[in-house]
Amino acid sequence: MKLGQLNLLSVDNRPNEEQLALVRQGKVGGFLNLTGAAATREAQRVAVTESRLKVPLLLGHDVIHGYRTIFPIPLAEAASWDPEAVEDAARVAGREAAAAGVNWTFAPMVDIARDPRWGRIAEGSGEDPYLGSVMAAARVRGFQGTDLRSPDAVMATAKHFAAYGGAEGGRDYNTVDVSERTLREIYLPPYRAAIAAGAGSVMSAFNEIGGVPSSSSPWLLTQVLRREWGFRGFVVSDWTSVEELRAHGVAASRADAGKLALEAGVDMDMVSRIYVDDLPAVVRAGRIPLPVVNTAVRRVLRGKAALGLFADPYHGSSVERERSVLLAPEHRQLARRVAQEAIVLLKNDGQRLPLSPDARTVAVIGPLADDRAAALGSWPGRGDPQDAVTPLEGIKARAAGGRILYAKGCGITDTAAAGFAEAVALARQAEVALLVLGEAGDMSGEAASRSTLGLPGVQQQLLEAVYATGTPVVLVLMNGRPLALQWAADHVPAILEAWFLGVETGPALASVLFGDVNPSGKLPVTFPRAVGQVPIYYNHTNTGRPPSADKYTSKYVDLPVSPVFPFGHGLSYTTFTFSDLRLGAPRVAPADTLRVSVTVTNTGAREGAEVVQLYVKDEVASVTRPVRALAGFRRVSLRPGESRTLQFRLTPKELGLYDQRMRFVVEPGTFRVFVGGSSVGGLEGEFEVRAQAAR
Ligand code: BGC
Repeated sequence: MKLGQLNLLSVDNRPNEEQLALVRQGKVGGFLNLTGAAATREAQRVAVTESRLKVPLLLGHDVIHGYRTIFPIPLAEAASWDPEAVEDAARVAGREAAAAGVNWTFAPMVDIARDPRWGRIAEGSGEDPYLGSVMAAARVRGFQGTDLRSPDAVMATAKHFAAYGGAEGGRDYNTVDVSERTLREIYLPPYRAAIAAGAGSVMSAFNEIGGVPSSSSPWLLTQVLRREWGFRGFVVSDWTSVEELRAHGVAASRADAGKLALEAGVDMDMVSRIYVDDLPAVVRAGRIPLPVVNTAVRRVLRGKAALGLFADPYHGSSVERERSVLLAPEHRQLARRVAQEAIVLLKNDGQRLPLSPDARTVAVIGPLADDRAAALGSWPGRGDPQDAVTPLEGIKARAAGGRILYAKGCGITDTAAAGFAEAVALARQAEVALLVLGEAGDMSGEAASRSTLGLPGVQQQLLEAVYATGTPVVLVLMNGRPLALQWAADHVPAILEAWFLGVETGPALASVLFGDVNPSGKLPVTFPRAVGQVPIYYNHTNTGRPPSADKYTSKYVDLPVSPVFPFGHGLSYTTFTFSDLRLGAPRVAPADTLRVSVTVTNTGAREGAEVVQLYVKDEVASVTRPVRALAGFRRVSLRPGESRTLQFRLTPKELGLYDQRMRFVVEPGTFRVFVGGSSVGGLEGEFEVRAQAAR
């Protein structure tokens, strides 16, 4: 049965008898959430030996930041600004998943998010389309490798197409209403980058955009995705997003919902069971032309062929391979390195950090200090909290000589201050109080939107109570989204953003706290002062009344417009300076490439890595342009005193814009470039684009 190939069902651990019967009848194209070499091999065996056409199954799973070896959450990985490390992490995730019989991952999530209330911001790469595109491509390369048939590879899914992160109010699944310009400039580039990197599938999103649900949008799924971008893989719906077309109010019946989705370009129906149950009659009645079905089936079968499933339906998985690959020591090692790179030093007044290795008494306080499950964050694959090393354990192991005191202080969402007295008493005895505060792992991720961005429960009060002891405080944050922590930023001398770092949380954190590793992460997303500033992002346009001392300008009466920590921000235990910004030419033609070079020097006393960031601004154009937009970056490791000259290239891709008719063009005029260690400040240069190349 052809429509059976388009039916994707979820299993609860193992397929039940009914599901296996459907496989035998050719009514299942794939399963999701079926994992483990033994179980996947058994289901695959039924498909290829007991069904009439013997077509193997796609076996999908949400391998988001690791399968068993859990890496930092994707937002944290993006904070490394290290696409090679991110690619390596995806490769390990893919290798482990594939060994366990999974051949398809529902990742990367490439949704741009400008609203930290949206819990799924944790699953993406933040607010910027350039960084987001680089990370999207890196993850696709990591998951898929160069040959999908390799036993290390899983097919990647760019999701959620499109603009799922634009949910109004940051409320998950909510309406999205963006202009075509913002869609094309901000939201779409990472999907396109994932596809250009070869992603085999795309997932259609839950949300509507301007009145048309993504899962029934021919414009998105056929015009943009296939005609403009040339995508040749298949599109899978999100979980029951075909059925949900009824709730959206664009389909009156299941059959109508299925017809709308299939004709728009959703090839595979996840969980709704509409394609397999309701569409046969519609097709027989001639209401859906057979070629529409054939096209979708061909795309799904091509995906299976690309994975080599017709030659080896088990895709190289085996129980022995699974046993030897999962949580392999080199996988943990990589997880530690990525975690170290993901940590962002937000503030370090008076060089409070690193802690001196001979700090005698350290009080570790807070509900996240010894929480294994939280360390893994949301979507922990088949990760096991027992594999995670907590901050407390990591610190104890590193500070072998010193005394480490520990008090939880309160639970993550507690409303009672019963544990404060103990925490305060310990802080009084210590040279330094290390507070590990933040969110539970499942307070971000899917269906985990928040209306506030402070520390949950009474953690803020705990922080203030410990601070009041006068013992120097270091704040370590664990969270899946930017938090708005104005008080901490004003009072606490040292703040480390540790997100959710995965199984190696403790060792990674301890290595940075004690200075064995110099922090080098940079924020992939803006940290607001208060939730009322949201949405807040660095690449905004100028408005006709940019904020100034004048009352009638774009600002708040009760808060500055600036964020507390800007995009791209992140400190180091050493210092870097930038010099010699050079442009290859003062003038270029629109189709030209401009070379930009800059020298970065480690001017401090420790080895460290800096992420050199290049931004551009088109000064005057036919449409408004961002005050600056990331156009390149490079991570570079430098010894004390060492300098490196870096080369960047600005091409029409970075300099172009969509004009008023939505044509992508580079317009003549003056451009500014900015180079530095964050989206604020930096060296500046200027060049001109001229219609006639004049050099
Ligand atoms: C999520 C997807 C995920 C799917 C399958 C949905 O609820 O939105 O991101 O891939 O479930 O688990």
